[in-house]
Amino acid sequence: MTLPSHAPRGVIEPGRLFVDQHGAVAQLHGVGIQRYDGVFWAWGEDKTHGGTFGGVACYSSPDLATWTSHGHALAVDETIPDLAPGRVVERPKVLRNPAGTYVMLLHVESADYSLARVGWAVADRPQGPYTYVRSERPLGNLSRDIGVFDDDDGTGYLLSEDRDHGLHVYRLSPDYLAVEEIVSTTLTRPGDHPVGPHGYESPTMIKADGLYYLFGSDLTGWSTNDNQYATATSPSGPWSQWRDVAPPGSATYDSQVSVVVPVRGSETTSYVYAGDRWDSRDLYHSAPVWLPMQVQDGRAELVWRDRWTLDPVTGEIA
Ligand code: DGJ
Repeated sequence: MTLPSHAPRGVIEPGRLFVDQHGAVAQLHGVGIQRYDGVFWAWGEDKTHGGTFGGVACYSSPDLATWTSHGHALAVDETIPDLAPGRVVERPKVLRNPAGTYVMLLHVESADYSLARVGWAVADRPQGPYTYVRSERPLGNLSRDIGVFDDDDGTGYLLSEDRDHGLHVYRLSPDYLAVEEIVSTTLTRPGDHPVGPHGYESPTMIKADGLYYLFGSDLTGWSTNDNQYATATSPSGPWSQWRDVAPPGSATYDSQVSVVVPVRGSETTSYVYAGDRWDSRDLYHSAPVWLPMQVQDGRAELVWRDRWTLDPVTGEIA
């Protein structure tokens, strides 16, 4: 098998790995990304132990292409059952709450994926170390893949896959440490899944020109599929019909969305799609597929580029 080679530092080449300042493969799987004071912070699944928990790796970058490792923001801990060796912890997503605390939300699992809980950890700086708080099934619902979103008014949201009912958008408490209520739930197209309700997974949300865009993939394990998005004028919906974000049949250029990052610059606001091309036999080397996304007038579209860079000051893509 040929491993995806790594791109030169400072350049994004979809399908090729990122390396950190030491030349190690950046563990940006299932990544969450935020920008604080001009610095991009990323938290990814460290797949050193394959599918089981290897820690949440933290990186910083000026341009989403040059990555500096800060080690583990949240480490394996045999004294905490949710973080113990052999457990599964996925999709670390961080929000800074209005009081300035960094709140990490996680998909906390058992090895057989039957636990389906969301976990919380907190820190006083982006790179941590984070202190683990607890996990739960939000309002009693299954919760596997998650995403997060904080609105301009400081309201935080958890996006969570619950195949019994659909993809939920939950409003969080003002400190983001608890789930308060479901504001909307959406299902995949009727007929796609003959047995029972279903929904989207790997959810993420952005707001562009006052419109909310919710992205997700179909539930096909580590295999990729045509990811879709819907729009609404409020996180409460109603959500539009879902549409493909990339050419149908391309399986989203063989990737699964993890997060879409708005990059607000002096000249323009760009949107960066960060997706995973999972390799179930070698998760450690699963390649990032990161691409510019055009977002305008209710449409979101991935644009293929072999190689690209982001100007973090102007927001322009070259
Ligand atoms: C799809 C999810 O999106 C991934 O995060 C991971 O949980 C795999 N399923 C496991 O099969």
